[in-house]
Formats: sequence, C-alpha cells, structure tokens
Amino acid sequence: MKQTLEKIKPLLAKTLSQNKLVTFLTGAGVSAESGVPTYRGSDGIWVEGTRNYKPQDFATLKFFKNNPAEVWKFMLYRKTTFRDVQPNAGHIALANIEQLLQDRFRLITQNIDRLHHRAGNSSSRTYEIHGSLETVRCSEECSNEIYPFPIDVSEAPYDASLVEKSWEVLKCLHCGSITRPNVLMFDEYYDERLYKMESAIETALNTGILFIVGTSGATNLPNHIASTARFKESSIVDINLEDNDFTAEVADDPNGLVLRGKSGEILPKIEQILRELLESENL
Ligand code: APR
Repeated sequence: MKQTLEKIKPLLAKTLSQNKLVTFLTGAGVSAESGVPTYRGSDGIWVEGTRNYKPQDFATLKFFKNNPAEVWKFMLYRKTTFRDVQPNAGHIALANIEQLLQDRFRLITQNIDRLHHRAGNSSSRTYEIHGSLETVRCSEECSNEIYPFPIDVSEAPYDASLVEKSWEVLKCLHCGSITRPNVLMFDEYYDERLYKMESAIETALNTGILFIVGTSGATNLPNHIASTARFKESSIVDINLEDNDFTAEVADDPNGLVLRGKSGEILPKIEQILRELLESENL
C-alpha cells in the first residue's frame, strides 16, 4: 500500500498544476466505520433490512405508492440509525481536504446519511446524487417544493408506530397527498434539480484525479462519472476493502491506482500527502 500511496503525490501535483479538480466519489463504505450498514455487504441493508422484499422491489416509487407506511417505517429506521452515529476519520479527512483545496475540490456522494455535511463538507461542493433523508417532497409532485424531514427523530427512540402517530405531518401542505423521502428510488431517474446529475458529469469532465471510495459500483451515474473522467484521461484511484465493479478498468488503466484498506485509514493518509505537497510546492 505504501508504494501505491507514494504514487498519489505526483498525480495530485499534475492535477493541481493543470488547474483541474480533485474529486472524490463516495459510497456506503465511507460510512461503514461510523456504524452505518452498507447496502450489499454481509450486514447490508439490502441483505438484512428487507427480509420480506427484494431491494429492487421495495425501494421503488411503485411500491411506495401502494405501501407508503411500510416505506416510511423503513426510512424512519434508517433516519434513526443515522442520528446515532458520528462522522469517522474518513469523513473528517474529506472535510479537511476541502479546506485545503477550496474550489479545486468536489465531492460526489451516493450516501443519504449526511455524514459528509456533519463532518464539515460544504453543500456547494458536495453533490448528493441519491438525495438525502434531510428532506421530503410531494409524492404526486404537485409542486417543486422540498420540505424538511417532517418527523423529529432527534429524541424519539426508533418506533415504527411513530409513523402512524405522525401520519398527519407526512402530508403535502399543498394537496394533502402523502410526502415521500427525497431519495432516488430504483424506478426513477437522475436529474439536476434533485440529484445534481449534470453538475456531477460537469465535474467529471474537469477532474484531474478521481478517488472512488467505498462503493461497489452497482449504480449507473457513478459508472458514467468514472468513464467520463477516464475519457478525459483523469487519474483514477479505487479505494475499497475489496475488488468491485470499478477495479478491472482502474487496474488496466495506465492512470489508475488500486488501494485496498479502510477508507477511515486511507483518506487521512491522502490528506497528509496533500498537505505536504501544498506546503512544499505552494500550489
Ligand atoms: N472502507 C472502504 N470500503 C469499504 C469499507 C471501508 N471501511 N466498508 C465497506 N466498503 C466497501 C465494500 O467493499 C463495497 O464495495 O464499500 C462498498 C459498499 O458497497 P454497497 O453496499 O453496494 O454500497 P454503495 O456502493 O454505496 O451502493 C450504491 O446502491 O442501493 C443503492 O442507493 C443505494 O447509494 C446506494 C447505491
């Protein structure tokens, strides 16, 4: 790992000298060390959390419209698990890296847990391409209005009946339809307004080094981001515990690096490399 880490410094130097972006694309693996289950790992949400349903059926707008309470109970469960955890060293390193790089930094995350924001990353340079559990919107899309998450889970223990008690606050203020979590579901499409799709692709076109961290590569926009960055001859660094859908292409890529280990251990090392680089070459 040490040799591979040392190869990052010249790639970072080249990126910064060309005034390109240093971009991080993160998935659930970045939050795993905070105690947030991933989706497809052995303890994953799509493995444990929905014994009665296949994820591709459960996390759909179609299923939501027929079973809103079922989906709201699951989302409330996820919201309470996010409430009780803290950003880990990997999240904090990414917030520090943004401080060091300012507008030369971008973060594209698939995570809906808001741990990057709680660690200190800014909304202006962070694209939540799968939405977040901070907000909801009308399930009938009667308006473009986005509301804050309507149930105060700050104190309440996880209690599925909370949904029944709070059913009224889950209604759209304009048309009375049920609101839905502002997260991308499997039968929906990325867009710019809700999921920053164009901003993420624009970022990939202007990226000099793309760090892909803690994601299995199961979704299509992240894959498009990686192939766009590769098309622009960006360096690509695959940071994960194990091989994933990005690995083969990164390993074959002359500009690619594969780093195996915990993001909470590797990202602080990358922060340190960047600090040394910025101090030595006042880039
Ligand atoms: N450090 C680095 N990588 C890790 C760590 C860790 N500590 N722990 C787990 N990983 C890796 C796993 O090896 C796996 O490759 O994180 C990845 C998690 O993969 P998934 O569970 O599939 O999560 P993710 O890739 O974020 O899923 C993408 O799929 O269901 C949708 O919307 C959902 O955003 C999610 C998307």
